[in-house]
Amino acid sequence: MSLNKSAPIGIFDSGIGGLTVVKSVMQTLPSENIIYFGDTARVPYGIKSMDTVREYAIQITDFLLRKKIKLILIACNTVSAAASNEIRERCAEKGITVLDVVQAGTKASLETPARNNKIGVIGTLATINSGTYDNAIHTIDKSKTIFSRACPMLVPLAEEGWTDDEIAESILKKYLDDFTDKDLDALILGCTHYPLFRNKIESLFEGSETRVIDSADAIANMALEMLTSADLLNSGKNGDFECYVSDKPQRFQELAERFLGKKLNRLEIVALK
Ligand code: DGL
Repeated sequence: MSLNKSAPIGIFDSGIGGLTVVKSVMQTLPSENIIYFGDTARVPYGIKSMDTVREYAIQITDFLLRKKIKLILIACNTVSAAASNEIRERCAEKGITVLDVVQAGTKASLETPARNNKIGVIGTLATINSGTYDNAIHTIDKSKTIFSRACPMLVPLAEEGWTDDEIAESILKKYLDDFTDKDLDALILGCTHYPLFRNKIESLFEGSETRVIDSADAIANMALEMLTSADLLNSGKNGDFECYVSDKPQRFQELAERFLGKKLNRLEIVALK
């Protein structure tokens, strides 16, 4: 089946975290039409079982496929860990490529100049317990020592919009205390909600050479490469942005508009299943 250049890119996450990917894609690929799905009725994913996350992720994938997207970006590390193979298989039948944030974060961390081969990873309980980053990094480079930590409080804080106050600061300090003196080459923000705390995280590493890696820019660049090589780049005016959520659009709308710095002209609730 041949894909249409003006078809949208489908991007999804459990909630607002994937908007960090949307923002990078809008900057890197301004002409692309984007459809975003945030599963706000069922966030957080990171404390759920892999089977449950997989079931939700498949429902969202089917929704995006019905919207005739030309590319899927899994903007959720937890889904990438739980279901990227299943999603790829499902999309391959339709000739649709799937890129995910674990691939992107791994690539970006390995491109960081290696000083002492130490990489830190923070993410949800599900992502960290799955060992997905350890596997992805060690498949490419066995010499890396990986330090990982689950930070389950950060997703609810981000969904609440509390990313820049003293509560966020003290929770981040507690989670990252063990990491700040390790002289890591890179710290991967292995959850797409975490870039919302980027300033606070970077200030904890001030004075060190640790590079904070956010997979949003990396996945946007991978999307640019993929669409260019497949001759699927859209051209012309700024692309459209459609947003779908599974619950409470007002809350989502407020946070999303603040984060993206633009009005959401199209926001709808959809029931999956
Ligand atoms: N933002 C997601 C991730 O990258 C999921 C967070 C959650 O729902 O727990 O893992």
